[in-house]
Amino acid sequence: VSDRLIYLDHAATTPVRDDVAAAMWPYFTTAFGNPSSVHGAGARAHEAMEHARAMAAGVLKARPGEIVFTSGGTESDTLAIVGAARALRQRGRHVLTTAIEHAAVLEACRALTREGFDVTFLPVDGDGLVDPDRVMDAVRPDTVLASIMLANNEVGTIQPLAEIAAALRTRGVIVHSDAVQAGGALDLDVDRLGVDLLTLSAHKIYGPKGAGLLYVRRGTQLEPLFPGGGQERGRRGGTENVPGAVGLAVALHLAATEREEETLRLERLRDRLIDGVLLRVPGVRLTGHRVKRLPGHASFTVHGINAEALLVDLDIAGIACSSGSACHAGATDPSHVLLALGLPPEVARTGLRLTLGRDTTQADIDRVLEVLPDSVAALRSGEAV
Ligand SMILES: Cc1ncc(COP(=O)(O)O)c(C=O)c1O
Repeated sequence: VSDRLIYLDHAATTPVRDDVAAAMWPYFTTAFGNPSSVHGAGARAHEAMEHARAMAAGVLKARPGEIVFTSGGTESDTLAIVGAARALRQRGRHVLTTAIEHAAVLEACRALTREGFDVTFLPVDGDGLVDPDRVMDAVRPDTVLASIMLANNEVGTIQPLAEIAAALRTRGVIVHSDAVQAGGALDLDVDRLGVDLLTLSAHKIYGPKGAGLLYVRRGTQLEPLFPGGGQERGRRGGTENVPGAVGLAVALHLAATEREEETLRLERLRDRLIDGVLLRVPGVRLTGHRVKRLPGHASFTVHGINAEALLVDLDIAGIACSSGSACHAGATDPSHVLLALGLPPEVARTGLRLTLGRDTTQADIDRVLEVLPDSVAALRSGEAV
């Protein structure tokens, strides 16, 4: 057994890169000022925020004033959905989203229903794809907002977002996208995607936990969740997390610079893993689209196994992965994403997700292909007793 941990749970979180940590460090220590302070220390922190804003905007091909720094993906999703819906409530109270969104989006939408909004949760096909025609069929005269994720965290499927957003905008619907899993992996040009609001989180792209951003297209109405002291141009009160914003911007910039080369490398490793698992482990099915999927994302159902027991076995063998989403407590519930793909509850409890990252090597993949068939076989025979 190798003593190196094979970490294949990058969709849950990633380590902070050394170059990101180094860029953040001064803003914890020497340049610790409050960006709102008038003195030099404040001015330096303010400058760091504006530099980070411009850097993040550069990756999104947006204007710096359209970037709002937040505490992460969950806050950005909530600010986008609740903030935009509240601002638009006089125009209409219908919101569209999909059945496979992250809890950050689903719960923000559910909160809106308690404020008198009506929410439609759009179905997906067996690969997790949203059909643009079904989206348009669901649009009503009172539809004000749609939230459609760019790529799914559990099954890796990438949505035809640009096509959906273009159609929605002809009907005057504001379009938000949770691009947390797409960060670092896909093109985030907000004009090409055609979105009004876009969520990113730093800790999925080798930045710090507790830092995120919301892109807000100029002119998009948004009610702040925390008005507070009016920071972030009144869209998000609270003293800015300066190191977090710097870390996010640097991580995003580095990811964009390395994206093309890293995508090819990850896709090659991912395909080796998917093909190997399908070949060597009986009773395994790929979940999510075979081609329209995130470069480092492999997900399966493993017939007849207890997902949690398998994760524990793999952990003992030095392989860290997940059953689908790390963001849910109570892993015994079947995954809402796998259910939405049409899988029966007993199968939707057997998800296995392996997500690759910058440090993943071919030797890691080959080790998984060596360990996994035996682990699954042992569990199956054990459970049969
Ligand atoms: C698709 C998606 N949206 C939102 C989030 C929440 O982001 P954060 O952990 O930064 O709140 C996550 C991560 O857990 C995610 O995968």
